[in-house]
Amino acid sequence: MNKELIIVLDFGGQYNQLIARRVRECGVYCEVQPYTMSIDDIKKKNPKGIILTGGPNSVYDMASPHYDKALFQCGIPILGICYGAQLMAWSLGGQVKTAPVSEYGKTEVTVASRKTLMKDVPDTTIAWMSHTDYIEKVPEGFEITAHTPVCPVAAFECDELKLYATQFHPEVEHSRQGKEILSAFVYGPCGCKGDWQMDSFVEATIKEIRDKVGDGKVLCALSGGVDSSVAAVLLSKAVGKQLTCVFVDHGLLRKNEGDEVEAVFGPDGAYDLNFIRVNAQQRFYDKLAGVTEPEEKRKIIGEEFIRVFEEEAQKIGAVDYLVQGTIYPDVIESGLGDSSVIKSHHNVGGLPDYVDFKEIIEPLRMLFKDEVRKAGLELGIPEYLVFRQPFPGPGLGIRIIGEVTEEKVKIVQDADFIYREEIAAAGLDKEVNQYFAALTNMRSVGVMGDFRTYDYAVALRAVTTNDFMTAEAAKLPWELIEKVTTRIINEVEHVNRVFYDCTGKPPGTIEFE
Ligand code: XMP
Repeated sequence: MNKELIIVLDFGGQYNQLIARRVRECGVYCEVQPYTMSIDDIKKKNPKGIILTGGPNSVYDMASPHYDKALFQCGIPILGICYGAQLMAWSLGGQVKTAPVSEYGKTEVTVASRKTLMKDVPDTTIAWMSHTDYIEKVPEGFEITAHTPVCPVAAFECDELKLYATQFHPEVEHSRQGKEILSAFVYGPCGCKGDWQMDSFVEATIKEIRDKVGDGKVLCALSGGVDSSVAAVLLSKAVGKQLTCVFVDHGLLRKNEGDEVEAVFGPDGAYDLNFIRVNAQQRFYDKLAGVTEPEEKRKIIGEEFIRVFEEEAQKIGAVDYLVQGTIYPDVIESGLGDSSVIKSHHNVGGLPDYVDFKEIIEPLRMLFKDEVRKAGLELGIPEYLVFRQPFPGPGLGIRIIGEVTEEKVKIVQDADFIYREEIAAAGLDKEVNQYFAALTNMRSVGVMGDFRTYDYAVALRAVTTNDFMTAEAAKLPWELIEKVTTRIINEVEHVNRVFYDCTGKPPGTIEFE
């Protein structure tokens, strides 16, 4: 069980979760809390240290978020970053003003003192700056530990009070010694020993869930994707058969996928939980008949998903908790210090409004995708599931351009299966971030044997991307494309042409609709 905790107080900056992640990378558990958390509540959690984040405001504007000065006198070591640094300086009698020159991006920082925070930083380093205000004068008793050509106070500290600050962002990758600085804080003044690993997260979360749920009933919408799978397994380890997972097969899954999910989570699988597979394929095909407009298709699939889930939930009866596999990138910051508002999930849009339950449990909301994967491996979830590429909630519904029919689903499933098989055989499945076959709505003339054909064209998509916000078309080997093309045309009925999509994002999107 991890005992050491660092609390990040969120003042609305864009890198707040990144700070938490970097601290966790140092081996110390860290969580983000809103800046409105009271000192008493902070103390109850017994943190080893507190980090104040950046934020878009100016401390001298009284409408900005402030914090009781007592925070700086409570004896818990504090690291202020950007706005957090300015807040510390301003609250304790220093001066903060609009900087004559704003600094954005990589900036050369000169170290003036290596006492504590900067102890592992060379004389000059590069750090990521993003500020329009600057600290003109540090409070009495504080020492300036770094500066830049235009910023007289790039870092400052007072060891006696255990207060430290940087105007720059050590959490951002571009800050060369960022990790050393965060590490110096948590292992120095905070006195951490580093007792956090993914296994302690898993263990602590299971215990937390068990304490919270007691003998309550828990419901989970399981999609078979990595997030909902990891969330479900955590819950299963915590409360066993008090958990019911509902898996809706909407008939728009990849080939064999429904059976694969059932094999892992169903009665013959490895987990102790109730598993309900709803074979709702025909319902979805009926609703989608004749519909061609992409947004309308998405809406129909989303709504029908809710209907099906709701009916199953009603059969189960009153549940106490609903589990969601929300992870940090799904969490949006809507307003200062309020990063706890969730985005309605693509896959289960609006679900909570329709199902009667007391509370939502989101065990992964603090984690980034790669951390979720680590947790999945720790929990013993099969690798092919943990490293599954993203698959959209509306599934093949948005990979079939135009009207969706059962016949078209079968075509795209078979073509996609071949494509995935060949990419894996070429050893490219980890290199290419997302790849799939889609069915264009185009039919064209071809010749097979001595016969004229008039059949569909399949499009192959493969992209490399870091964040799925932008992407490049993957430069797949030509021999691979050739092989996939031949196999698809030979093995999949009603396909006589294969295209490779060379479009990046932008201007394309990754999916076709
Ligand atoms: P686009 O097509 O917008 O996709 O470039 C970016 C990433 O998001 C995935 N995606 C979805 N995921 N529900 C999801 O859960 C959806 O409705 C959805 N639409 C797109 C897509 O596969 C890609 O990884």
